[in-house]
Amino acid sequence: MAQEKIIVTSALPYANANSHLGHLSGAYLPGDIYVRYKRLTGADVKYICGSDEHGVPITISADKENVKPKVIIDRYHNAIKETFEKFGMSFDIYSRTSLPIHHETAKEFLKCFYDNGLLKEKKSRQYYDEKANMFLPDRYVEGTCPNCGFEEARSDECENCGALYDPSELKKPKSKITGETPILKETSHLYFPLGKFQERLEKYIDQMNLKYGWKENVLQYCKSWFNNGLKDRAITRDLDWGVPVPVEGYENKVIYVWFEAVLGYISATKALSEKNNDPDLWKRYWQDVNTKYVAFIGKDNVVFHTIIFPAILMAWNDFNETKYLLPQNVPANEFLNFEGKKFSKSRGWGISGIDFLKLFPADPLRYTLAANLPENKDTDFYWKEFQSRNNNELADILGNFINRTFIFAHKHFEGKVPVQARLEEIDNEQLKALEEYPVKIGNLLDRFKIKDAVLEMMNLARAGNKYFNDAQPWITIKNDKDQCGTTINICLQTIFTLAEVFEPVIPFTSKKIFNMLNAEKVRWKYAGEVNLPDGHELNKAEILFSKIEDDIIEQQMNKLGVPEGEEEKKEEIETISYEDFMKVQLKTAEIIEAENIPKSNKLLKLQVQIGNEKRQVVAGIAKSYKPDELVGKRIVIVFNLKPAKLFGVESQGMILAVEDETGNLNVLEVPKNVKTGTSVK
Ligand code: 2FM
Ligand code: ZN
Repeated sequence: MAQEKIIVTSALPYANANSHLGHLSGAYLPGDIYVRYKRLTGADVKYICGSDEHGVPITISADKENVKPKVIIDRYHNAIKETFEKFGMSFDIYSRTSLPIHHETAKEFLKCFYDNGLLKEKKSRQYYDEKANMFLPDRYVEGTCPNCGFEEARSDECENCGALYDPSELKKPKSKITGETPILKETSHLYFPLGKFQERLEKYIDQMNLKYGWKENVLQYCKSWFNNGLKDRAITRDLDWGVPVPVEGYENKVIYVWFEAVLGYISATKALSEKNNDPDLWKRYWQDVNTKYVAFIGKDNVVFHTIIFPAILMAWNDFNETKYLLPQNVPANEFLNFEGKKFSKSRGWGISGIDFLKLFPADPLRYTLAANLPENKDTDFYWKEFQSRNNNELADILGNFINRTFIFAHKHFEGKVPVQARLEEIDNEQLKALEEYPVKIGNLLDRFKIKDAVLEMMNLARAGNKYFNDAQPWITIKNDKDQCGTTINICLQTIFTLAEVFEPVIPFTSKKIFNMLNAEKVRWKYAGEVNLPDGHELNKAEILFSKIEDDIIEQQMNKLGVPEGEEEKKEEIETISYEDFMKVQLKTAEIIEAENIPKSNKLLKLQVQIGNEKRQVVAGIAKSYKPDELVGKRIVIVFNLKPAKLFGVESQGMILAVEDETGNLNVLEVPKNVKTGTSVK
């Protein structure tokens, strides 16, 4: 049989945040397991990924920090890359979409479509935030979905029902940047006629599904888009960060990030060609009918990979001699949640990959995530489950089986593989199991049933323990050393098979086991054979898994819900002495006059009565109160604060106020029966 040739991609993560466990389990770990397995079968695989470095999420992060987008993408590209390396991702390349090769590739596609008259130019009215002075990207407009009434729908797409619509159809639009109601303002964009491709796309998905069995969840998503009817999609944007549009009159616009991000898979493979000094490498994968293409993604990316990307490739293929491959399968996963809720950085819910890997090795995490992948429905990561998968499965089943076998081999057989002297029924059964498991596991992995495959891997370790228990080598060593040798031989062969079949999931441990066996991995189809010859010398055993104690898990559970950085802040708080505190004089006061300060939208000028004394105080509460609302309020002021001038106005003291969830300031009020000028203690 000819060698299988496969190009595998995992979604390009946005370079504006660290990857969390949800990302790892959605698009990355399943891709890596599949790729590692396929490599073991002898397939010629290229595994491609990189950072998605354009689009609004990046510009917004940059604006927040008041830095250039480049600062953000460099920081997160490197951080994500490091996380992936520590996590054991075996990409052939981790590229980035800010590279010139990517810009050229994206422009080449757009130019081809434009020159061939495929793109339509349309004037449209887009949401424009007059306060922020900018056109609002889709995700920065929120409103009510015209299809299902979901109140947090995006301007052109509803997360709740999956509907795609024209932004003008959105009800009650609101700018997420300023909170204002945006206006619709005219602008020109180039549109890709997606509708033209609907029939072919439906046929393509049908055929792929018939031949290769697509996942039900993916088919359902596609069906709902087809039912709604595919519409023209704007592929340019009014932004200044991205791939410039190579068309006259569009110099100030960029290519829509999704149009170019999917082409990032191709440009990243071109970057791999450059890296390997093999200019045609990318063509041998993307433009060869003998290659198959598999795209790993999370559910929020389905439309882009099953409809938009294939349509782009079909369009290219219509106009060019060189033909690109379309995805043969898109095994999208649902989402992983964290302890029953969605991951949220701002609420401190969840943990980033990089933080996790500072605490624990990668393999127990890979195993836990793989055993619980959100393949058909959303699943959750639970700290307790992580602990029990590590302690009760990896350590107690897999680790224990390997450990007890090695102890026997070193203690009684000079650290060598004993001879298979005489095979009893129980031995033959175990040898048969060794042949069957890799086939069963391989079939599951080929069908992207990774969770089931992982269960079977651990079942093989369970079978190993059962065989050891039933064969009772601690008894046969005393009365039938040949029999005992046979048992240990077969246990060692089992360990070999385990090292091989577990390699895709726990590659770091697999490497250690092969090292202990003093052996190399083989082709998957030989994984269940007798791979260790009689008399083969073994290395010393290593500790494979350490148990995780309850208090370590509790520490992590206690951190839940504490927003990132807050914890450290708590520790950093500088304490003051009682004497220091007593230096601050707080007194009650009544506001008797309040007025705006010209040219300041934040400050108010207040006259306050403090016992017999009258003072003027400037307070930054103009956004929360109209001057009239304040008069008569009895409040608390810092009485002995050094006078200062704000906006040229003298201020003799400071008012105490608290901010609520909406950012509104509320002055601290005291009951009316407390006289002004009273000390607050
Ligand atoms: O959802 C995301 O994180 C996107 N950056 C995925 C892009 S996948 C592909 F198009 F590059
Ligand atoms: Zn909806």
